[in-house]
Amino acid sequence: MNLVPMAEILNDAHKKGYAVGGFNINNLEFLQGIVWAAEELNSPLILQASEGAIRYMGMDYVAGMVDAAVKNTSIPVALHLDHGSSFEKVMQCIRNGFSSVMIDASKLTFAENIELTKKVVEAAHSVGVSIEAELGTIGGTEDDHKVEGKDAMYTDPEQAKEFVDATGVDALAVAIGTAHGVYKGEPELDFERLDTIKKLIDMPVVLHGASGISAADLKKGVELGVNKVNVNTDFQQVFTAKIKELFADDSDLYDPRKYCGPGRDAIKEKVKEKIMILGSSDRA
Ligand code: G3H
Ligand code: ZN
Repeated sequence: MNLVPMAEILNDAHKKGYAVGGFNINNLEFLQGIVWAAEELNSPLILQASEGAIRYMGMDYVAGMVDAAVKNTSIPVALHLDHGSSFEKVMQCIRNGFSSVMIDASKLTFAENIELTKKVVEAAHSVGVSIEAELGTIGGTEDDHKVEGKDAMYTDPEQAKEFVDATGVDALAVAIGTAHGVYKGEPELDFERLDTIKKLIDMPVVLHGASGISAADLKKGVELGVNKVNVNTDFQQVFTAKIKELFADDSDLYDPRKYCGPGRDAIKEKVKEKIMILGSSDRA
């Protein structure tokens, strides 16, 4: 199967009330663990790469590895740029076959965010590529994307409505209390705000920074209309924990296949757990 536009996946999720994982790839083992889990549970999948991950792997490797992964699969898969920082970066991904992009202009003013997002929507839609944007600012750190706690700002529901009407995006990432990376305290989500936003915009909503959010809160978010749930840190943590455990048992370990393989299995199990929580199994 070829890559599908993310909107195709998310519109079904929005219509039927479930969410699909926007799962970040960092290397080959992440890609395989994630794809194999989704295949086993017959779930649609959004593979996403941040600009930092693209720099780490190289654009040709990202495009080539994902192509190899989807060639023989029957589940719908989208390849999405996570937190695209500029029009140029977005275009580079579109030229390299991504079926979806995020333009993250959330640090700009409301008017500037609309202006840049609209420009990306026109370009992306003209070639059948989907687009996600962000309104409000999600705290924490993910690669190059850093927002200090004091600068994090929740999404205003009325502005969200104005924003989606003005831009025509396919999905909107909202700030309701999640943050990227490892949480210092217990995250508290503003479900009332989420509910109000979803009712006003009536389209796919994205939750970033979902690592470390309890299964109960994720389920509640999905019930209230979240359709894409972004996870990266949880997979990085299980991969690394497994490798540390293996080295603690055998410090003479030297064959990477003997620790990266089990790390990949750990990612696969974590992905399966997330898919079950989000309700996307058997939706492919
Ligand atoms: O855009 C990616 C996600 O928001 C990942 O956040 O690393 O906290 O799971 P996370
Ligand atoms: Zn994010």
